[in-house]
Amino acid sequence: MGKGEVSMARVAIVGVGAIGGAISSLLQLAGGHEITLCTRRPLRQLTVAMPSGSVRVEASNIAAPERAGPVDWVVVATKAYDAESAARWFPALCAQGAPVAVAQNGVEQRERFAPWVDLARLLPVIVDCPAERPADGEVRMRGAAQMSVEDTPLGHDFAALFAGSPVKMKLVADFVTAAWWKLCLNAVGALNALTLKPAGLLRDEAMGRLALAIVAECVAVGRAEGAQLSDSLGEEFLAHYRAGPPDSVNSLLADRLAGRRMETSARNGAIVRKGEKHGIPTPLNRMAITLLDAQQP
Ligand SMILES: NC(=O)c1ccc[n+]([C@@H]2O[C@H](COP(=O)([O-])OP(=O)(O)OC[C@H]3O[C@@H](n4cnc5c(N)ncnc54)[C@H](OP(=O)(O)O)[C@@H]3O)[C@@H](O)[C@H]2O)c1
Repeated sequence: MGKGEVSMARVAIVGVGAIGGAISSLLQLAGGHEITLCTRRPLRQLTVAMPSGSVRVEASNIAAPERAGPVDWVVVATKAYDAESAARWFPALCAQGAPVAVAQNGVEQRERFAPWVDLARLLPVIVDCPAERPADGEVRMRGAAQMSVEDTPLGHDFAALFAGSPVKMKLVADFVTAAWWKLCLNAVGALNALTLKPAGLLRDEAMGRLALAIVAECVAVGRAEGAQLSDSLGEEFLAHYRAGPPDSVNSLLADRLAGRRMETSARNGAIVRKGEKHGIPTPLNRMAITLLDAQQP
C-alpha cells in the first residue's frame, strides 16, 4: 500500500449513539469503507452535524446479532455498562478474526472485554469529541474530534482507517498515562452530576477545593498503575473548567438530567477499584459513586 493510500475495510460500529455516530461519519469521510451500524433498534438513517457541515452516513444497519456477518474491524461505542450485550455481536462480526476497538471512557477497556475478546485483538481508544444524540439517527458533534490509541501495529491499522478524515489521530507511546490523564479530567464531573449544576459550579472556592481533592486521589491511584501524572494536574484542570463556558454540561450530568443510567462505575468507580488494589484510600470518589448510584434509574 502506498503512502497516504487507504485500503477499504468492512467496519462494524456496535452502538450508534453520540460517539458511534461521530466515528461512523469520520469513517465515511475517510472514504471507501463498507460501514455496518449495529443497533438495538432499526435505524432508518444517520445524519451527523459536524462543525464543518452535515454528513449523511451511507451504511447498512442490522438490529440483531444473529443477522451479522464477518467484518475487518469492530468498533464498540456503547456505554461501558453495556459491554456484555455489546459482546453478543462479536461471534458473528469477528468470525474471521476482526480486531475490536473499544471507544469507551475509563481505564479498564481491556478488563471489561477480556471475557469475550482475545487481548491481542483488543484496542482501547480514548475519544475526545464533545458529541450528543438529540434523537435516534441524529448526532451533533460540538467540536473537533481527536482519538488516541496505542503506538502499536494494531493502533496504526486502526488509525489508517481514518486517514483523510478530519479526526486528529494520536498514536501514543504511553497509553496508560493518556487514559489516567483523561480519567483525572473526567473524575471532577461527579460534582456536577451530584449537584445537578453545570461547569460554572467549579468557580466556587469550596467546590474547587473538592475538585482538587478528587483529582489528587485519581493521580495517586494512576501513578500506582504506572501513569506519569504531574502534581499540578488538579490545578490545571480546575483552571480549564473555570475558563470554559459556565453552562457546559458533562456527560454524567447530562445522563442524570435525562434520567439515563450514569457511567459511574467506569469513571470514579474505576478509581475506587484500582485504589483498593493498591491500598490507596479514595474516600471522595467512593462517596461520589455511592451517592450517584443511589440516583441511578
Ligand atoms: N458523548 C460524548 O461526548 C463522549 C465523549 C468522549 C467519550 N465518550 C464515551 O463514549 C462511550 C459512548 O458514549 P455515548 O455518549 O456515545 O453514549 P450513547 O449516546 O448513549 O450511545 C450508546 C449507544 O449504544 C447503544 N447500545 C447499547 N447496547 C447496545 C447493544 N448491545 N447493541 C447495539 N447498540 C447498543 C445504545 O442504544 P440505545 O439507543 O438503545 O440506548 C446507544 O445508541 C462512553 O463510554 C462515553 O463515556 C462520550
